[in-house]
Amino acid sequence: DTPPLIDPFARPITYLRVSVTDRCDFRCTYCMTEHMQFLPKVELLTLEELTRLCNAFVDLGVRKLRVTGGEPLVRRNIMSFFQSMSDRLGHGLDELTLTTNGSQLARFAQDLAACGVRRVNVSLDTLDPDRFAAITRWGRLPQVLAGIDAARAAGLRVKINTVALKGFNEDELDRLVDWCAADGHDLTFIEVMPMGEMGEDARLGQYWPLSDLRARLESSRTLIPLAERTGGPARYVRVAETGQTIGFITPLTHNFCESCNRVRVTCTGELFMCLGQEDNADLRAPLRASEDDAPVREAIRAAIARKPKGHDFDYSRQRVAGQVSRHMSHTGG
Ligand code: GTP
Ligand code: 5AD
Ligand code: SF4
Repeated sequence: DTPPLIDPFARPITYLRVSVTDRCDFRCTYCMTEHMQFLPKVELLTLEELTRLCNAFVDLGVRKLRVTGGEPLVRRNIMSFFQSMSDRLGHGLDELTLTTNGSQLARFAQDLAACGVRRVNVSLDTLDPDRFAAITRWGRLPQVLAGIDAARAAGLRVKINTVALKGFNEDELDRLVDWCAADGHDLTFIEVMPMGEMGEDARLGQYWPLSDLRARLESSRTLIPLAERTGGPARYVRVAETGQTIGFITPLTHNFCESCNRVRVTCTGELFMCLGQEDNADLRAPLRASEDDAPVREAIRAAIARKPKGHDFDYSRQRVAGQVSRHMSHTGG
């Protein structure tokens, strides 16, 4: 009886990314500044409010919920939120999952599996401990590797997310691919997007187009394109020699916005219709104004009705265009 969410470009919205905290125990250089100002706790939606909001989205046809942050697992009592949302699995929701830096997985992997989470995406840009400490500023590699092992031991599929960074992890391409093959993880490479404050030269300097990365992989491996698999933006290939799956997320070299199916909610209840645009809608006000969900659903519909066509990120012609000043940690990627 409820009509599905369809945006102005006829794209059905079935995937919600919800950021449950702006905090993180790491400070990845491309995601945050070293001394981030975090939001005062009163600004945050409570876990009950987050649950109510996510339920409203599921009522409107969202079938995939990805929990992000900041680092979602540093939010106090976050398992109660996963527990509540797990009630919707098979009752509207097809998938409940998260993107994490892995630091707390050793502690939470079992609980996540018990809440019906089947796979996790873990951000990992390097296998070198010193480089890892440099890029995450506060992170320690062994802790993350232990978290990944715990996730696998709990029966979770692991997908490693690697942001491709020129001059940083270029020389680790083969090592990362081989490590994932040996340990049975999926792997996705991501083009670094121009978010947050950074000079143009620094941005262009770190940009490593995935077309280049892919060509390098193809010099020693056979890549077989696969049909779409996760409802996310990645395009996947199978490596014939190892059977492993590798994904590519290419907002810069190949724009995938035309098939966009997702929106994002921040931990303060702002709805962002696009990762690469500033326009957003306040869902916290209608949520707090009344116990009735109808105004919340109306606010969601009204916002989806102005979802833009896509981002304007562009590094061609040696200029950085379309950048947004908010940090990636604000919307959770
Ligand atoms: P799967 O369910 O495994 O496909 O995950 P996912 O790719 O949907 O989510 P994940 O959290 O692993 O995101 C990986 C990267 O994709 C992050 O850097 C996101 O910012 C980026 N990404 C996800 N959705 C969009 C989008 O709509 N636009 C852009 N430009 N990037 C996106
Ligand atoms: N460009 C691309 N990916 C980014 N991530 C964080 N910041 C950026 C950026 N500027 C990635 C993280 C994580 C995912 C949610 O987003 O590494 O894997
Ligand atoms: Fe934390 Fe993830 Fe941002 Fe790194 S990319 S600082 S792990 S939220």
